[in-house]
Amino acid sequence: MKSIIITGASSGIGHATAGMFLEKGWRVGLVARRADRLDALAQGRPNAVVLPADVTDAAAMEAAFKRFGAVDVLFNNAGMFGPSAPIDEVALDDWAQVLAVNLTGMFIAARLAFGAMRAQGSGGRIINNGSISAHTPRENSVCYTTTKHAITGLTKSLALDGRPFDITAGQIDIGNAESEIVAGLKAANPGTQTMDVRHAAASVLHMAELPLSANIPFLTVMATKMPYIGRG
Ligand SMILES: NC(=O)c1ccc[n+]([C@@H]2O[C@H](COP(=O)([O-])OP(=O)(O)OC[C@H]3O[C@@H](n4cnc5c(N)ncnc54)[C@H](OP(=O)(O)O)[C@@H]3O)[C@@H](O)[C@H]2O)c1
Repeated sequence: MKSIIITGASSGIGHATAGMFLEKGWRVGLVARRADRLDALAQGRPNAVVLPADVTDAAAMEAAFKRFGAVDVLFNNAGMFGPSAPIDEVALDDWAQVLAVNLTGMFIAARLAFGAMRAQGSGGRIINNGSISAHTPRENSVCYTTTKHAITGLTKSLALDGRPFDITAGQIDIGNAESEIVAGLKAANPGTQTMDVRHAAASVLHMAELPLSANIPFLTVMATKMPYIGRG
């Protein structure tokens, strides 16, 4: 049975992706802070492993990986949007929080997955959740956009440094999948074009099902009519 750890499995893209991998018979490690939601997702599914943890807590994440054991794929997905304001109105504490979750959190999970995959000797795959904001910002999203651009560097470094160990890495850049983050943006900006989170989940499954001899370094999946291509 193939295995995957999914961070941010309690809602949105991570939740939908975890559900899809569980249906496909993968062993799925569910990481997030809201344990009640993870328990509900795991209910009646013996291939689900509930691993409540804050991705910024290195010790808790290490314990979660240890409990899970052998891991073929990490979906490094947990993230937050943070403040929506021009930079001079952003409090340093808010910047630090977005940096801690979106960047250090993904670094911690990738570091643990890489180490486990290297020790296993059978390689593995790390899929980072970037964003359209890894390429082009939304207005007033300096913290989010900066961290998501940084994830592109993480993905490229993992893909390069993993080669000697049969570890590969790719990034999914999603645009407006209808999650809690996007529901908030949609409420503030009526007319925002969205798509179902299942399309993001199906794309992650496609990336994960490839043999280790093949990799999708970057995949963009977005609401067809959202502004990004040309003038929108
Ligand atoms: N939706 C989109 O269109 C879109 C577009 C581009 C990129 N993304 C990216 O997709 C990822 C998931 O976002 P989403 O849209 O699905 O939003 P969401 O529904 O708000 O989900 C965010 C997930 O991250 C988890 N999380 C946040 N902080 C955490 C922490 N400190 N420790 C552990 N887990 C934490 C949350 O779980 P708990 O609160 O239970 O901890 C939740 O499961 C993010 O990286 C986001 O940037 C989304």
